[in-house]
This record gives sequence, C-alpha cells and structure tokens, in this order.
Amino acid sequence: MKLTILGGGGFRVPLVYGALLGDRAEGRITHVTLYDVDADRLAAIGRVLAEQAAGVPGAPVVTTATDLDEALRGAAFVFSAIRVGGLAGRAADERVALAQGVLGQETVGAGGIAYGLRTVPVATAVARRIAAVAPDAWVINFTNPAGLVTEAMARVLGDRVIGICDSPVGLGRRVARLLGADPDEAWFDYVGLNHLGWLRGVRVAGRDQLPRLLADPEALGSFEEGRLFGAEWLRSLGAIPNEYLHYYYFSREAVRAYRGAGRTRGAYLHDQQAAFYASPSLDAWRATLADREATYMAANREAAGAGERAAEDLEPGGYEKVALALMRAIARDERTTLILNVRNRTTLSVLDADAVVEVPCLVDAHGAHPVAVEPLPGHAVGLVTAVKAVEREVMAAAESGSRAAAVKAFALHPLVDSVTVARRLLDAYTAEHPGLAYLATS
Ligand code: G6P
Ligand code: MN
Repeated sequence: MKLTILGGGGFRVPLVYGALLGDRAEGRITHVTLYDVDADRLAAIGRVLAEQAAGVPGAPVVTTATDLDEALRGAAFVFSAIRVGGLAGRAADERVALAQGVLGQETVGAGGIAYGLRTVPVATAVARRIAAVAPDAWVINFTNPAGLVTEAMARVLGDRVIGICDSPVGLGRRVARLLGADPDEAWFDYVGLNHLGWLRGVRVAGRDQLPRLLADPEALGSFEEGRLFGAEWLRSLGAIPNEYLHYYYFSREAVRAYRGAGRTRGAYLHDQQAAFYASPSLDAWRATLADREATYMAANREAAGAGERAAEDLEPGGYEKVALALMRAIARDERTTLILNVRNRTTLSVLDADAVVEVPCLVDAHGAHPVAVEPLPGHAVGLVTAVKAVEREVMAAAESGSRAAAVKAFALHPLVDSVTVARRLLDAYTAEHPGLAYLATS
C-alpha cells in the first residue's frame, strides 16, 4: 500500500516514517513516495529516512518525486504537509503583523490569515490533481492553518480529506495524566475549530473527572495549560482551552512578548533548519527536533511565567501517532475515536454543514464521522463563529482574487482591532509575498 507525502522534504517527515517503521501489522504501508518542489530538501530527508530504516526488516520502500501527478498515481493515502513560501514566508507573515502592532503567529490572527491566503490557492490546486489522478485516495491534511486548508480542500474532495493536529491529543494526554487516567480509556469532550477548541469534560468510566481537576489548584498549576492560563481563569471558564487560546485570552501579553523577541518563531526555525539541511543526518535531525520541541511557545510561556516545558511534553508522539491511527482505522477498519478536522454536518448547531470543525470522530473504513456533542458554551460561540467567518472570507478572496474580501478577512478577526490596520496589513503582505500578487489589484 502506497503513501504519498506532499512536502516530502519537510522537517517532520522522519516522525511519520518512524511511526511507519513501528507498524508491523498486515495491511501496513509498504511504499512511501516523497513529493517536494525542492529536490535538495528531498535528498536531505531521504538520507535521514535511510538511516532510520537501516537494519529494520520490511521497512517501507522510499522513492522521491518532483512531479505531482507521478507522485500521486496509485496512492492509497496522501499526506499533505506543504509549507507555501517556506519558513521565510512564515517569518514574513509574523514580522509584518508585529510591525502593525498585532499578533504575528503562524496560524492565529493576521499571520494565519496571510498564510491562509497564500496556501488556499495552492492546496486547492493540489486537491484538484488528487481528484483527477488518485480519486480513491484518502487525504490527511497536516498543512496549517489546518482547519481552513482542510475546508478549502474539502470543497474539491468532500469527506475524503481529513485534517489533523496534535494539540488536542497533547492536552488530553496531560489532563489524563493528572487525573491518573489512561488516555485510551477516557472520553475527551473537546470541541471547536483547529487551534480554537476547549476541553469541557473528561469522562472516565462514565463519570466526568474534569470538575475534580478544576477544584484542585495544585494540580492546575502543574501542567502546561494550567500554568499558561492560570487556575483562576480555567475555573472561570469551567473548561481547559487549547494552548492556542492564549493568543486570545492574553492577547496583549502575547503580542508584547512576540514584539520583544529578537526573532519570530518562523525566523528562529528558518535558521535552525537551514543548519540541519546544510548537513543532514539522523543525529542532526534528532538534535534539531529536540531544540524545536523545547522552544515551542517559549515566548507565551515566558509572558505567563509558566517556566520550562515538562519532560513528558518534549517527547514526540502526538502528530505522527494520530496520522498512523487514522490511516490504520481507515485501511483496516480498526474502529477508533480521534479528534479530527472534518465537515460539521449537524455537530455544532451554530455552524453550517460544510464548515470544518475539530471534534471527536468515530473512524472506520468509511472515514471519519463526527460524534454528537453538547452545544458550544456562549463564550465559545462568539470566537468560533467570528473565526469561521474570517476563514470564509479567506476562501472567498482565494477563489475570486477580491481585495475587498481579503481586507474583510483581516478586519473581522477578533485580534485585528481596526479596518485601517487590516488595509495596511494587506498592502504590506502583498508587497512582501509574490504568492499574494493575485490580490494586488482587484
Ligand atoms: C503544534 C501545532 C502544530 C504546529 C506545531 C509546531 O503541534 O498544533 O500545528 O505545526 O505545534 O509548531 P512550531 O512553532 O514548532 O512550528
Ligand atoms: Mn496544529
């Protein structure tokens, strides 16, 4: 069975390949095709994968391709993990926003909108090629902003595209650990959009254990989200927000910390990865990954006085485990429940059926089916509907090339505080990114 990875020269590909190497079961992936527009990056990652596979009997065969159709042909699964504009593009997304005094981040706020405007046209074109060349393939989208990009691809591919993110899993794992529960036995009542969700309950043997955690200040102070948001705010919400909500609930502090940092996250990763790609090896990859994990959201943690990340949180295992579990569930009809980005249908009543949401899904050979959940609390309705409206303007702008729609996307975002700023952001982004030329005139 063939898996094609789009963005196959990307830094996190060895995580996926490592997970595949551990899969010995019948019906596993036997062939991996790495597709990338950059042959040098492909060669570098190919080298790391070869080191990983050394001595592993039955390791999936790896081939590389720079022709998209050739890469897609015969694929049972396609992972889309592209980064339009590379890390230099991400750094520019972040820098331009911060220069206007608003949040500059990969997926949230102005930076996420700019990234979305650059990525949606490319992801849509990719989806069309998949529909033409590999219409039966299941597509797993890792590309950020993952919810928005999944929705854009779903307009072409329907429910054959499923978006994934590891942050709800990480949150669930941390909370389960505190409760002394096995994460595989617990039911996580987590709902929202990608990077905009809330854990509202954790049922173990039919009983919600989250109130017990919310009542325990010591436990709340001992894990990532507790330190980031503070026990008092978590108790006020009655839920544990995804770590990305820090940008909303502590917007001023986050913007101040990001503006004060010498380099943006994208610029930091750009330099870090340039060193790795210049002399790639498995050891260099491991060291680079460890540094990336240790510095994740460092400015937010500093702003919140949250200290270092816990040792357990530095271990990889989230992202690639979700992808492998999803692929196994579909390919072998191994029923499981995963928190995924899928079309809403009737799950969240405040959104329409085609809106991609991040919710628990039952997965089987027929794909991912969102599970019925309690309605969103009022405070979450506001953010979720506002951000979905922004995503819709991004998709409208990408489809029509309308500058007005792009301005609307920036201006309607809760973290952009003026229409004037929205216009300036669009001007600055179009000046910066050749990939946004389609918005420059109309
Ligand atoms: C989390 C997010 C991902 C993001 C990753 C790496 O896992 O859910 O969407 O890609 O962190 O973030 P970084 O800042 O290291 O690129
Ligand atoms: Mn994510």
